[in-house]
Amino acid sequence: MKEPEERAAFDRLTSLLADAFAEEGRPGGDMAAKALRAAPALPYRRTVSGADPGPVLDVACGLSGALPLGASVLACRHLLDWISWEGTGLERSVSARLYTTELVGPDGHVAAESVRIGLLASEAWTDYPISSHAGEETYLVIAGTAEWSVGGGDYAAHAPGALIHHPSWVLHGRRTLDEPFLGAWRWSGDLDLSTFRVAED
Ligand SMILES: [Fe+2]
Repeated sequence: MKEPEERAAFDRLTSLLADAFAEEGRPGGDMAAKALRAAPALPYRRTVSGADPGPVLDVACGLSGALPLGASVLACRHLLDWISWEGTGLERSVSARLYTTELVGPDGHVAAESVRIGLLASEAWTDYPISSHAGEETYLVIAGTAEWSVGGGDYAAHAPGALIHHPSWVLHGRRTLDEPFLGAWRWSGDLDLSTFRVAED
């Protein structure tokens, strides 16, 4: 850790996320809040040389209605190992427009065994395909309004502050329109990322 002020910003970020997921009212949200609150006392680790999402983060966090969490993300952005989704099996027109980072979890900057908590940034006009996975998941919209389909339902808009829950193996998709998107996600239950499946047409 070479930038103490950025670690302080990371700790602020995990504290705000703990508060947000504690409001969810689900055991998985409580588990995420507990792990996030334990994070400041634990070592910080880097995993890969990350790719910064670039302007999409600034544009998203500058949108009206963005949560204060967005400022905390910007304050520690260079400390985060942002990973491009290229090569994950999604069409390149989609994967090249997504960035993710795991904050706390088995592969996160701070280790945790029973949850994964991270961020996802998406460019505008990006249609993340309908997909599912074993992990139970909740998204918190931090900045930018995006549209979600859950369980085969119609797409519906979700603004900053919204929590969107995806039970294990329930189909879900998210598309952005003219605004980029920044969200936080948490997984509980089966944390095996390889269970991710894009739905057949
Ligand atoms: Fe998901």
